[in-house]
Amino acid sequence: MPLQIIVGTQWGDEGKGRIVDWFAANSDVVARYNGGDNAGHSVTVGSKLFKLHLIPSGIINPKPIAILGNGMVINPKSMLDEMEMLIAAGVEVDPKRLRISHAAHLITPAHQALDKAMEVARGKGNIGTTGRGIGPAYTDKASRRGLRVANMLEANFSEELTIRIEEANRQLKLLGAEELNAKSIVADYEKYQQWMLPYIADTSLELHLALKAGQTVLAEGAQGTLLDIDHGTYPFVTSSATIASGVFTGLGIGISGTGGMEVTGVCKSFQTRVGSGPFPTEVFDDLALQLRGSGANPWDEYGTTTGRARRVGWLDGVLLRYAVRINGLTELVITKMDILSGFETLKLCVAYKKDGKILEDLPFGPSNLDDCEPVYEELPGWSEDIGGIRKWAELPKAAEGYLEAIARLAEVPVRLASVGPEREQIVSAK
Ligand code: GDP
Ligand code: IMO
Ligand code: MG
Repeated sequence: MPLQIIVGTQWGDEGKGRIVDWFAANSDVVARYNGGDNAGHSVTVGSKLFKLHLIPSGIINPKPIAILGNGMVINPKSMLDEMEMLIAAGVEVDPKRLRISHAAHLITPAHQALDKAMEVARGKGNIGTTGRGIGPAYTDKASRRGLRVANMLEANFSEELTIRIEEANRQLKLLGAEELNAKSIVADYEKYQQWMLPYIADTSLELHLALKAGQTVLAEGAQGTLLDIDHGTYPFVTSSATIASGVFTGLGIGISGTGGMEVTGVCKSFQTRVGSGPFPTEVFDDLALQLRGSGANPWDEYGTTTGRARRVGWLDGVLLRYAVRINGLTELVITKMDILSGFETLKLCVAYKKDGKILEDLPFGPSNLDDCEPVYEELPGWSEDIGGIRKWAELPKAAEGYLEAIARLAEVPVRLASVGPEREQIVSAK
């Protein structure tokens, strides 16, 4: 398909990065359309573990070029650190392979300081943000006072940045937080400015030309459907359009001009969430430890960006069906199937019980999940280690049955199942 969209169906960390890496081998361009360095996408290739926050995971494969779209908010320091990490690992990163939209917004230390100060001010009602300045940067964008990457091309960039930091200092003072030194921030950003200039491009035009020339574009989502600013578990969400339709605004691609698309939902075989907010199928104690892992393995459920232990639970089919609808998913990829080995029975939430009624759809979307009690279907588990399996027919019958139950519930086919974090640990249904 000319355009393939990879989107998380849950609250992020579904394994999007490793799935993008899988599809990147057949893509000409890989583009991120939303978020910033709040994302943490892990890709394991042999003995190397890449943790990417800003640069699309597809860059690890030598084939595609990588684009950071206008829908993103970019912290230049994180960007520079990530480029250095990739270059040190032998990945080709230069202005021919990496393009940054002129219309993406810049994150500054003032956004990060405001993010943290606002979380403190929220007290018990905090969102549990990543502290990367995402909310304040998108706030500036929406209130039309943000600095865009293109501002770096202007002679007055330093003055404009100084004005923004001084403005933020007034807000920080009101919040009782420490003020920032504008001069040293500007000195740092003048260095980033020099280094970023050759990468700045009209990425919307480049994507248009790529699609027109018959190239394939892979759009890499960050966060997940349930963290979408409009359609997620508001207010416990991020500040960007994480869902598939965010691709069109976040990359500047015309909806009807793509020549066809696949919308691939990446879904973990169980549910996880970092930070605050509702989670109807959450589990605790020993069961939670079994799903989360102790932290000894790099794939255990501890945040790639913040290191926080992720909350865990059974797969929520009501929310999955919602993700299918809101994204227009055409297929699913189920990750972390290997983690379910060893459970005697697996629970799959097929509906909610609320006020004595059985609900298969959400009354007001996922923002009101209060008092929704999961109704579970129980399925047999399997005990075999499935990490070495590469053929669908060789999966234990119970694992196949679990995948079939998900496909039935979601009403879209499961195309791939991943059975370990390594690049090749994938089983294809086609
Ligand atoms: P993303 O944010 O959606 O890209 O996901 P993360 O990279 O934050 O989290 C997914 C974690 O699970 C990473 O540590 C991956 O290496 C790991 N992972 C992905 N797929 C599998 C899988 O099938 N099995 C196991 N054990 N780990 C996986
Ligand atoms: P990837 O791309 C999981 C969560 C935070 C918090 C909420 C708002 O790796 O799937 P923010 O810093 O964005 O304002 O935080 O969103 N969050 C994520 N959770 N994976 C992510 O990204 C996330 N990015 C943000 O934990 O609850
Ligand atoms: Mg992640």
